Amino acid sequence: MERSKLMELALEARQMAYTPYSHFKVGAALLGKNGVVYKGCNIENASYTPTNCAERTAFFKAVSEGQYEFEAIAIVGGAEDAKNLSVCSPCGVCRQVMMEFCDPDTFEVVLGTSPEDYQVYTLKELLPLGFGPANLGK
Ligand code: THU
Repeated sequence: MERSKLMELALEARQMAYTPYSHFKVGAALLGKNGVVYKGCNIENASYTPTNCAERTAFFKAVSEGQYEFEAIAIVGGAEDAKNLSVCSPCGVCRQVMMEFCDPDTFEVVLGTSPEDYQVYTLKELLPLGFGPANLGK
C-alpha cells in the first residue's frame, strides 16, 4: 500500500481521538503484513495515566484480532484547533511496543502532516539499540 494512502487513513483515524483533557488529537494507521490496516486514535481518561496513545490503540486492536506481523505505521497529530499539523513523533512507550512486534531494520514509521508531506523512518532510527524479544532469546 502507498505510504500516502496510509497517511490518509491516519488522518481519518485522528478524527475519532477522544481528548477532552489535552485537546491534542493523534491518529495512526498500522499496516499488517496481511494487508489489513488497523486504525487507532488516542483515548484519554479523567485519571490521566490510563490514557492510550493512538499508536498503541492500533497495535492492540491488531494483536487482539490475531495479527502479529507489521509492515508500516503512519502517525499524524496536533492540537485540535491547529490550522496546520506539525510532525508528531511517537512516544517512548509506543516505540517499545513497536519493538515487541516489528523488525527494527525494516518496519517503517511514516511521520508527516498530510498525504503529500511525510518522511519514512525505520524503527531502528527511532529506537537505536532497542530491547526486544531477541534479547530474551525469543
Ligand atoms: N499521544 C499519542 O497518541 N501519540 C503520540 O505519539 C504522542 C502523544 C497522545 C497522548 C495524549 O492523549 C496526547 O497525545 C497528549 O500527550
